[in-house]
Parts: sequence; structure tokens; C-alpha cells
Amino acid sequence: MGNIQAPRGTYDVLPQDSAKWQEIEQTINRLCNLYQYKEIRTPVFEHTELFQRGVGDTTDIVQKEMYTFQDRGDRSLTLRPEGTASVVRSYVENKLFGQPDQPVKLYYTGPMFRYERPQAGRMRQFVQFGVEAIGSKDPAIDAEVIALAMDVYKSSGLKSLRLVLNSLGDTESRLAHKQALIEHFAPSIKEFCGDCQNRLEKNPLRILDCKVDREHPLMATAPSLADYLNEESSAYFAEVKGYLDELGIRYVVDPNLVRGLDYYNHTAFEIMSEAEGFGAITTLAGGGRYNGLVEDLGGPESPGIGFAMSIERLLLALEMEKVEIGQDRSLDAYVIAMDAASKKKAVAVVRDLRASGISADMDFTDRKMKAQMKSADRKQARFVVVIGESELESGKAAVKEMATRDQQEVAFGELAENIQKKKSLGE
Ligand code: HAM
Repeated sequence: MGNIQAPRGTYDVLPQDSAKWQEIEQTINRLCNLYQYKEIRTPVFEHTELFQRGVGDTTDIVQKEMYTFQDRGDRSLTLRPEGTASVVRSYVENKLFGQPDQPVKLYYTGPMFRYERPQAGRMRQFVQFGVEAIGSKDPAIDAEVIALAMDVYKSSGLKSLRLVLNSLGDTESRLAHKQALIEHFAPSIKEFCGDCQNRLEKNPLRILDCKVDREHPLMATAPSLADYLNEESSAYFAEVKGYLDELGIRYVVDPNLVRGLDYYNHTAFEIMSEAEGFGAITTLAGGGRYNGLVEDLGGPESPGIGFAMSIERLLLALEMEKVEIGQDRSLDAYVIAMDAASKKKAVAVVRDLRASGISADMDFTDRKMKAQMKSADRKQARFVVVIGESELESGKAAVKEMATRDQQEVAFGELAENIQKKKSLGE
């Protein structure tokens, strides 16, 4: 039997890459604090019904991409394909709508699961960072949410970004548009794939999203939602754009932008990478407003807006723009023991250094001094502390600063303080 490999569409983050992940997570945590979004952690699996009702029965996500299973108690559970439905469930279940300060501003980072065809930037397990602001329909919060998404990319070092914006309108506008779409496609619906035929009455907007019938001539001439926005929806959209202008955030309006999830209305947006060499998938983040979702999931009227981005695509974009992040966290001190007696002392010295906030390491394979020295070099230790017979006798260790080759005898009790001082001098 062959060796077991990671399942298709999954991958390991190895130590040489995890520093990048940590740096991005730090950026996310820092910015969310600046914008005052608080972290929420919800389960990785939920009742399947949550996504059927939340994300929508006619979406590709629910129809084709969910990891759904029966547990031993015969419940239908699903690994979350996205975060919004879970966060809204939690907002309702924990009565966050009752908190005096609305909107409740939340963020999350964690793995999501979709059974998709894996390619660059498309995985079956991927990590989304997302935010949800629930309990306000102020267009200024739409602009804030978009600004936060852009800020995460800019703070990470990305430059080639494009913000694409659309309004999906309110229920009335959407119904008018839906009717127009049905009338547009119905006479020729037999020429479309089975999925589209099913979508015609239920959710004709999804037809525009179809990958199979993309080239059908009726696609290009389909009625545009922009022409069916009522006055209120247009006014709302104008205000969102006004706030974005105020914030100096540039955008392009694309009336064909439809999102792959059913809960959206009014503001919808995507952020694309314009970096050269990016594969077929250039969407970095997507989001929008969902004014009916809280009610659909059993809560009181609480309009919301949010977005999500995968860390994988952010990392891909950084690579394409040749932005380097996550430099290896440096090793302060490598402690070398020359013999068995010195090793005991080395173990204690390493502990003392760490207790003082100095990163420290040593050899655990009983290698000769020369090999340990090489190891210290490879690990790019700033200082090497050498302990041997004579050091044990004199009560002092030899401390060598690798960059300058300066060497000094330092009493064991003063090692931490000495290295700390040298460290801060060099910084
Ligand atoms: P979404 O457009 O389905 O929206 O996904 C958002 C982002 O997740 C995408 O732009 C992409 O960065 C990432 N993503 C999605 N699928 C994959 C995949 N298979 N591999 C790697 N990355 C992926 C949502 O999920 C909504 N919940 C966003 C939202 C939050 N809307 C309002 N609030």
C-alpha cells in the first residue's frame, strides 16, 4: 500500500511558511482592533439546514459543494462552506440584537470547506477572514466594511487592487428584475443547461452566473438590474459611493457583478487583484449587504453587511506582486555544550534565557562543538553561548556575537541581562 497523502484540495502549512500566516493574522487582528470589530468563533460544522436557508437552496455552494454528513445520532451536519450564516445564527441564538450598541461588529478567521475543483487559489479547505456588521443599514457602515477589507490588503503590502461595486437593490427592485429575467430567458430556456432550466422560476439571477452557458447570446443581452433599481435603492447606492469618495477609496461600478450567495441585497462588492501572472481566479474578496438574513434565520429585523477573503488568495497575490512577508523569527542565543557535564548547565542556561524573554536553543543530538557551531550559523543565531570544562570552573560562559565576532566572558548569573543589553544596543 502506498503512503497516505493529504486529501485533494487540502495542504499543509509547513514551518517555512507559517510565519507568513502569522504575520497576516497579526495584521488582521491589529486592523480589526483599530476598526473595533470583535472576534467571534463559531463551530466548524453546523446543521445542514442553516446553509440551505442562509446561503440559499439554488446556489452552487449548497447544491454541489457542501461536505454534508450524517452523524451517529442521524443528524445532517455540514462543514461550513462560509462564515456569514454561522455568525448570523449566533447573533440570533445569543440575542446579540439585544445589545445596546448596534451594529454589532464581528470578525472571524478559520477554515471553510467547499467541494470545488482545486486549482491555484481554489482549495477544498481554505481559511477565510471575514467581518460582519449586523444591526445597521447606514450606508456609512457599508463604506467602513469595504475600507477595512482594502486596508488589510494595503497593510499587507498589495498595490494592484481593483474594487468592483454594484447594487443588487431592495426586494421590490429585485422582484421587478427577476420578472424581466424570466421573460427574457423563458422563450429559449430549452437551449440552456438543466441547472439553468431549474433556476428559471426559482432564481433566474443565478443563470447569469452559469459556467456552462456563459457564451449563450442571451447572456449578453439580459436585462440589467441597474435598470430596475427603485428610487430608494438608487439613493442608498449613491450614499455608499459618496462615503467611499469621502474615504478616498476608488471603485468601478460593474452592473453585472452578481454574487454566488442568495442573501445579498443593495451593496455587493468584490476586490480583485490586478497583479500580473495571477491565474484564472483574480477575486481576492467578496461581500455585500444582507438585510433579510437575520429575519430568515429567526431573528428580528437587523440589516447586516460583511465580506470574506481567503488567506490563500492573499498570499498568492503577495507572491505575484513579489512582496515578502514573514521573515523567519530570529534566534537570539544558541547554547553550545562541549561535554556531558556542561550539557546539564546548558539546559539550565537555556531555561533562564527563555524565562527572560530571550529566544534560545541548543543541540539535542550530542554533536561535536564544530557541528553545533554550524547549526548556530544555519539558525542565524545572534549570539552563541559556549559552556565547557573551563567555563564551569570559572563560573563564566563565553558569549560570542556572531555578526561582530566579539567575544566576552560573562558570569552565568548575568547571561540574560548581558544578552538583553547587547540585543537592545543592536536594535
Ligand atoms: P464568497 O464570495 O463565497 O463569499 O467567498 C469569499 C472569499 O472567500 C472569496 O473571494 C475567496 O477569497 C475565498 N474563497 C471562496 N472559495 C474559495 C476556495 N475554494 N478556495 C480559496 N478561497 C476561496 C462568502 O463566503 C461570504 N460569506 C462573504 C460575506 C461575508 N458576505 C457578507 N459577509
